[in-house]
Amino acid sequence: MFHYQQKFEGAMLSCIFMKILEGRPRSYDRRMDKISRGQVKRVKEMVIPEVSEGAQVLEIGCGTGELAEMLIARGATVTGFDSSREMLDVARNRIAAKGLEDKLDIQQMGVEAMDGLQASSFDAVVSTLVLTELSDDERRFALKHSSRVLRPGGVIIIADEVVPRKVIQRLFQTLVRIPMLALTYLVSHTSTHPIEDLPAELKTAGFTIKKEIRSQGDSFALIVGSLPENQ
Ligand SMILES: C[S@@+](CC[C@H](N)C(=O)[O-])C[C@H]1O[C@@H](n2cnc3c(N)ncnc32)[C@H](O)[C@@H]1O
Repeated sequence: MFHYQQKFEGAMLSCIFMKILEGRPRSYDRRMDKISRGQVKRVKEMVIPEVSEGAQVLEIGCGTGELAEMLIARGATVTGFDSSREMLDVARNRIAAKGLEDKLDIQQMGVEAMDGLQASSFDAVVSTLVLTELSDDERRFALKHSSRVLRPGGVIIIADEVVPRKVIQRLFQTLVRIPMLALTYLVSHTSTHPIEDLPAELKTAGFTIKKEIRSQGDSFALIVGSLPENQ
């Protein structure tokens, strides 16, 4: 397993505020970029080389379509879904402005409808900053169906906030999160939950972990998993 420390702590902090920013979809990308000092965009750039050129990609929670556009620039075709009509409106406008409608299929749906997606129909599943917004059951369901919709040898790339492995780092994460979560809850009446053991959940869903990149404080991870070639 490939594992090195990377400075994308700003992306973790953005995870706490993102529920507030989602309330303003048109300025979401700009504000996320500002709050994270460009690190959310950097995380998305790190997803791109993990997807092979020309791949058919499913994006869970595609939001405003920023990652989808980057994947399309790499030659991928993307099916993106999201539960928010407002976020998808921004994604549709973005893609239409670039004349890329034939490369992106967008659906308004929640992860609970993933059992309706066709089996073995994608080469890659990607998701950034979404799984922490799901309940434990929704997240496991999403991972199980990600495995089902991928072809043999398919890859999954997840970037999201996670619970650090060392006690001292967990304590730091908790201390940083509490005041910001309180603010987020006051404004949006929702919150996010860092994932306790994402590699273990991916393994349960049938993936082998190929790469795990953690932020300096161990609280943000980019994880790449793959399915066996023959199954
Ligand atoms: C923080 S935004 C991230 C958007 C995009 N992935 C990105 O990185 O820019 C989280 C997205 O997940 C979507 N989302 C949250 N819960 C969802 C669910 N149960 N099913 C589908 N999408 C969901 C939200 O609507 C929102 O667009």
